[in-house]
Amino acid sequence: MQEALTAYGSEVLRSQGIPIQIRVGLNSGEVILRSIGSDLHMDYTAVGETTHLAARMEQLATPGSVLMTGATVKLAKDYVEVKPLGQMSVKGLDKPVEVYELTGIGVARSPFEATAARGLTRFVGRDAELEQLQRALERSEAGEGQVVGVMGEPGVGKTRLFYEFLHQPLRAGWLVLATNAASYGKSVPYLPVSDLLRAYFKIDVRDTMSHIHEKVQAKAALEPELEPLLPGLLALLDVPVHDPLWQKLDPPQRRARMMDASKRLLLAESRTQPVCLVVENLHWIDSETQALLGSLVDALPAHRMLLLVNYRPEYRHIWDSKPHFTELRINPLPPELSKELMRALLGIDPALGPLKQLLMDRTDGNPFFLEETVRSLVETEALVGAPGAYRLARPVGSVQVPASVKAVLASRIDRLPFEEERLLQSAAAIGRLVDLALLRTIADLPEDQLRDGLGHLVAADLLYESSRFPKVEYTFKHSLTHDVAYGSLLHDRRRALHARIVAAIETLHSDRLVEQTERLARHAFRGELWDKAVEYLLRAGRRALFASATGEAVECFEQALLALRRLPQTPETLQRALGLRLNLRDALWSLGQITKIREQLVEAETIADQLGDQRGLGTVACFRCHYFWSVGELDAALEASQRALEIANSLGDPLLLAETELYRCIVFLAQGESGRATEILQRTLQELDRLVTGKPATANRATAIRLLVRCFLTRSLAELGRFEEGIACGEEALRIAEPNSTAFGLATALAGLGSLYLRKADPEAAIPLLERGLEVCHTFSVNNWLPTIEASLGAAYAATGRVDEGVNLLEQAVDLDRRMGLVATLSVWRTYLGDAYFRAGRVAEALVEARRALGECRARREYGYEAAALCLFGRILADQESPGPEEAQTNYLLALELAEQRGMRPLVVRCLLGLAQGHERAGDFTAASGYRERGVRLATEMGMSLATLETA
Ligand SMILES: Nc1ncnc2c1ncn2[C@@H]1O[C@H](COP(=O)(O)OP(=O)(O)OP(=O)(O)O)[C@@H](O)[C@H]1O
Ligand SMILES: [Mg+2]
Repeated sequence: MQEALTAYGSEVLRSQGIPIQIRVGLNSGEVILRSIGSDLHMDYTAVGETTHLAARMEQLATPGSVLMTGATVKLAKDYVEVKPLGQMSVKGLDKPVEVYELTGIGVARSPFEATAARGLTRFVGRDAELEQLQRALERSEAGEGQVVGVMGEPGVGKTRLFYEFLHQPLRAGWLVLATNAASYGKSVPYLPVSDLLRAYFKIDVRDTMSHIHEKVQAKAALEPELEPLLPGLLALLDVPVHDPLWQKLDPPQRRARMMDASKRLLLAESRTQPVCLVVENLHWIDSETQALLGSLVDALPAHRMLLLVNYRPEYRHIWDSKPHFTELRINPLPPELSKELMRALLGIDPALGPLKQLLMDRTDGNPFFLEETVRSLVETEALVGAPGAYRLARPVGSVQVPASVKAVLASRIDRLPFEEERLLQSAAAIGRLVDLALLRTIADLPEDQLRDGLGHLVAADLLYESSRFPKVEYTFKHSLTHDVAYGSLLHDRRRALHARIVAAIETLHSDRLVEQTERLARHAFRGELWDKAVEYLLRAGRRALFASATGEAVECFEQALLALRRLPQTPETLQRALGLRLNLRDALWSLGQITKIREQLVEAETIADQLGDQRGLGTVACFRCHYFWSVGELDAALEASQRALEIANSLGDPLLLAETELYRCIVFLAQGESGRATEILQRTLQELDRLVTGKPATANRATAIRLLVRCFLTRSLAELGRFEEGIACGEEALRIAEPNSTAFGLATALAGLGSLYLRKADPEAAIPLLERGLEVCHTFSVNNWLPTIEASLGAAYAATGRVDEGVNLLEQAVDLDRRMGLVATLSVWRTYLGDAYFRAGRVAEALVEARRALGECRARREYGYEAAALCLFGRILADQESPGPEEAQTNYLLALELAEQRGMRPLVVRCLLGLAQGHERAGDFTAASGYRERGVRLATEMGMSLATLETA
C-alpha cells in the first residue's frame, strides 16, 4: 500500500484537485495530510489540522500503515478505501479527531456497487437460490469444493444474485476473486484469467513490465510454493519470460504450464483460507479459460473453494455428471414478486394499478426490462414524482411500452440530448468497458462538457463509473445497453470511431502495445483499417497459437484473410495471403477440421501460381497429398506427392522433401505397401537426422517431421513383423519427444509404439503407452491423434478382456473420424470395433462393422486394411451356422494371400491360426496341423505372444 501511494498516489490525488502531502512518520509509516496552496506549504490551521495533529499522527503511523485524518478522507473519499481507527484526542485541539487507515485505492466497482450508493432497486425474492448458494458455501468451507452454475436469460438477475450473496456477511476469512468474460473476448485466450491474476496481484495499468514482474515475484517469495509457477503466471500477464527452460517449451507445453500455474495458485490460496471464485458470463468465454475452469472443476472436491459461474441458456457445459456441480436456473420473477418489485420502483398509489398490470404483461417478470421501462416512463414524464413514489401523469391508455427491452433502451437513447447521445455512442465504440482517457481522445468535447455529459449518462443509469483510480473507467450498465447504443451508430461514424480508437490506443499504450493486440485487431477491423487489421489479426492469431488456443487462432487468421481481401492485390499482399493460408492449414489440421483444409489449399495454390512461388507451390502440393490421403483419395494423394517431390528436388529443399516422403508413405501403408514405406522412411530418417545433427533440439517443423517419420516407420515395421527394429525406433521417438517436443510430438510417439505392441499381440504393453497418449490428446486438444489413440486403446482393452470399455472407446473413435471427415483410417477402426463387438458376443453388429470395413477399403483400394478386414470376417463366420465355416475359410485364405503378398507377417500368423482352427473343427487334423505349425513358427520367429494369439 505504501509503495503504491509513494509511486503514484500523491500525483493522482493531486491531479484530481486534492491538495495533499505525504509525510513519512517518525516510525516510518506514512501520513497523508492535505495542504493548502500550490507550493505544498502545510497550512494546518487553515484546514483545521494542527501541527500537533501532524506530529501525533506521525507517531501513530507504524511501518506499512498509511494514516489520514477524517477531513482528508472526506475530500478523497471517492479515490480511497479506508478503515476507521477511531477518535484521537490531540493536545491543543478542543475536539477529538477521526483517524483512518488507508486500506485500498481505486478499487474497481461492480455495477451494483456503483449504483448502490445512489440506491439499488430493492432486491426481491430469490430466497431459495440464496439458500442453495449458502449451502454450497458451507460445504466448500468444510473442504468439499462446490461449483454452482447460475443460468438465466439476460437481465433476469444472475449478476444481482451473486452481488446479494457476496454482500451478505460472508463468513470471516473468505477470499473472493471475481472475473468475467466479455462479449468480444472469445478470440482473446485467457482474458478472464489474466484479468483475475491482475486483480489478485494488484496490478494496474500504470505498472510497467518490470513492476509486474516485481509484484508477482514478491508474492512468490512469500509463498515458496508459487516459485515454480512464476513463468506460467508471468506469461499469462504478458510479461516476457527469460527463463531458458521456459523458452525451450513449445506452445502446448507453455499452455499447460499456464493453465497449471493459475490452477495451482488458486488451489494454494484455498489452503490458506477458503476461496470463492466468481466467473460471470460463461456464454462469452474463450476455449482456454473454459479448459482451465474444466480442470479446476475436476480438482475442486478436495479443496475449500466455491466456484460460482453464470451464463445465459445458450451456453453448454459438461458438468452435469459431476456430483459437486449444481445448476440453478433463474426464472423470471413470478407475478407476486414482479408486483413487489413494482411497488419498490413505482410506489403504492392506487391509480398506478392499470399501469402495473400493463408492465407485468409486457415485461414478463424480467427485472431489467421492468427497471428500464420505468426509467423510460419517467424520462418521458408519463410518470412524475420520486423513485418509489411516482404518480401517473397521463391516462394509462396513452402510455407506450415497447415490446422488448432492446426497444425500450433504443427509445431511451434516442431521447437523449444530441451531444449526450453522441458521447454514449462514442463510448459504445470503445466497448462495454470505457477508458476515460480513450474516450477523451475520440469524443471531440471540451473537458467540462465531457464531464457533464458523463455525469448525465451516469445519472440516467446508462453508464456507471467502474473505476476511478489509477485510471478512470466507465462501464455500460448492462451488456444490452451497450449493444443497443452500439447498434444505433451509423456505419460511417462507427468506422471512423474505431479508426480513431486504434490511433488513440497506439499512442496511449505505446509502451505496452502487445497486451493490446486483440483490442487493436478488433478496432482496426471494424475501423476498416485493413492493412493494420491484417497485421494485428496475424499477431493475435500467432499469440493464440502460441497459447495453443487453436480455435481462436483460426478465427483470427480467417478474419485477417477477410481484411486482406479488401486491400489492393500486390505481390506483397499476395505473399501475406499465402502465408496466412498455410498457417491456417496447420491450425485446421490440429483441430481436425478437414473439410476446410481443401478450400485453403485451393486458394493457396492459386496465389502461389500467381506469384510463381515455387516453394509455396511445393508446400501446397505436399499438403494436398496429406489432405487427399485423409479423405481416402489415395491416387490423387500420390499424384500430388509426385509434384511436391519434383519441386522439392529442384529447389533442393530437404525439409519439404522429407515431409512429402512422409505423407507418401502414409499412403503406401494404407495400400499395404509396408515394405516400400519402410525403405523410404528409413532413408528419409537418415537424411533428417543428418540435417539436425549438431543443431539444438528445438520444437520446430523439423523435429515434428522427424517424429512423424519415426512413428510411421514404427508402424510399418510392425506391419512387417520386424518388431525389434520397430521397438527400437519407437523408443527412440519417445526419447526425442519427451524433453523437446510438442504435445503433438509426444502423442505421435506414443501412438506409434502403442500400435506396434497391438500388432505384436502384446496389448498389456500397449495399454500404458496409449493411456498416456490419450491423456496428452485430451489435455492439449491434439484432436488429430485422438481417434487413432482411442481406437488402438479400445482394441487393446478388448483384447485384455475389458471388452465394454474397448467398445466404448472404439465407438467414439469411429464417430469422431466420421465427424471430422477423416476417412483415411475409418476402415481400420471399424475392423477393431467389429472385433470388439465379436468378443462382446454382439455378433450381428460385428458383422455389420466387418462388412462396412471391407466395403470401404475395397472402394478405396486400401489392400493392407482389406486383408485385416477379411481376416476378421473369417473369425466371425467360423462360429456361425450360416453361411458356414467354408465361407470363413475362404475369407481367411483371401486374407492370407493378400497379407503374404505384402509381407504383413503378423497378419499372416493370424490367418494361419484361424485356418488351423477351422480345419480342426471340421476334423481335418492334417491340414490343421500344417497351418498351425507354420503359424507358430512364424509367430515365434517374430516374438509374438502365442498365448494372446491363441485366446484371440
Ligand atoms: N431479484 C431482483 N430484485 C430486484 N432487482 C433485480 C433483481 N434481479 C435483478 N434485478 C435488477 O435487474 C437488472 C438486471 O439484473 P442483472 O444484471 O443481474 O441481470 P443478468 O441476469 O446478470 O443479465 P446478463 O445475462 O445480461 O448479465 C439489474 O439492474 C438488477 O439490479
Ligand atoms: Mg450479468
